[in-house]
Amino acid sequence: MKQTRAVITGVQGWVPDYVLTNRELETMVDTNDEWIVTRTGIKERRILKGENQGTSIIGINAVKGLLEKTNTAAEDIDLIICATVTPDMPFPATANIIADGVGAKNSFSFDISAACSGFLYALTMGSQFIETGMHKKVIVVGADKMSSIIDYKDRATCIIFGDGGGAVLLESTKEEVGVMDSLLHADGSGAPYLHMKAGGSRKPASLETINAREHFAFQEGSTVFKFAVTNMAEVSAQIMQRNNLKPEDIAWLVPHQANKRIIDATANRMGVGPEKVMLNIEKYGNTTAGTLPLCLWDYESQLKKGDNLILAAFGGGFTWGSIYLKWGYDPR
Ligand code: UT7
Repeated sequence: MKQTRAVITGVQGWVPDYVLTNRELETMVDTNDEWIVTRTGIKERRILKGENQGTSIIGINAVKGLLEKTNTAAEDIDLIICATVTPDMPFPATANIIADGVGAKNSFSFDISAACSGFLYALTMGSQFIETGMHKKVIVVGADKMSSIIDYKDRATCIIFGDGGGAVLLESTKEEVGVMDSLLHADGSGAPYLHMKAGGSRKPASLETINAREHFAFQEGSTVFKFAVTNMAEVSAQIMQRNNLKPEDIAWLVPHQANKRIIDATANRMGVGPEKVMLNIEKYGNTTAGTLPLCLWDYESQLKKGDNLILAAFGGGFTWGSIYLKWGYDPR
């Protein structure tokens, strides 16, 4: 009997309107457009402004668009998983708020916290809910409002991150398309290099933590960079190897958009040319769990049924991984 696989049957991204350019950042911290572009590849990023605008706004807008374009009724959704490190609030889960916001009344929903690898974790998990045969329609959201935890006085982090995200619909198929393989890793000893110091149970919010600016993301950039280059490249090469994929078999590398230099190193290690690499870092920066669905959304019109895609990411935790999937549909 043919195996049941989970296949992406639609993708939709959403980014806020406000564009924060490198030029504007020059007026906020001691940096310059040339440094940012050459060291990261980023030219601008989007910022979600306004009162009471949490990550759920990104998710709700993406999921609404996804339901519309795939002609899916919200009541038919079984499960919504949201990957994010910037939930609207510690609880309830942002996925619960998204489900309510789109009218997915018959779904259950929960969040995944795996930082920049969150979408890979959530996509793997969502696929497995489909593969068991117990669920028919699963939505996986990757979204972050990074501006809510970024210190706009810290030039080492504020130039990288932006707000945005996207959602995919997963359905079952007996065809040879969909999520074929997944390779996920975590190493909690990486926490000192990328974390938020306060606001959790270890160090709850206080006047002191606020004055010490401990509610912002802390990153030891060059250390994270070294781990990212090595691990994202290695895990991408590994998933190719164990699926007997040669560089010429790969249609697209879909890399986490943290730094163009990390992306180039991963493509080099895989033997894949730049024409096969999805890249939108210059306009959105690093949206953490949002980067991969935003890439799929931007490149959707170029994807053909059966295309071999390698998704890869590295981020806080440390967490990293790759997914091999065969695209499920031709441009509509
Ligand atoms: O997505 C989750 C995982 N995160 C990542 O993958 C990010 C990984 N890290 C990076 O992308 C890079 O480390 C950064 C973009 C954050 C920094 O680039 P770098 O090439 O690693 O720079 P660095 O931290 O080693 O700093 C080099 C120099 C320093 O000056 P000195 O000490 O050499 O005089 C920094 O102070 O660049 C300076 N610098 C800046 N200069 C202008 C740091 N940030 C800036 C800035 N503008 N924004």
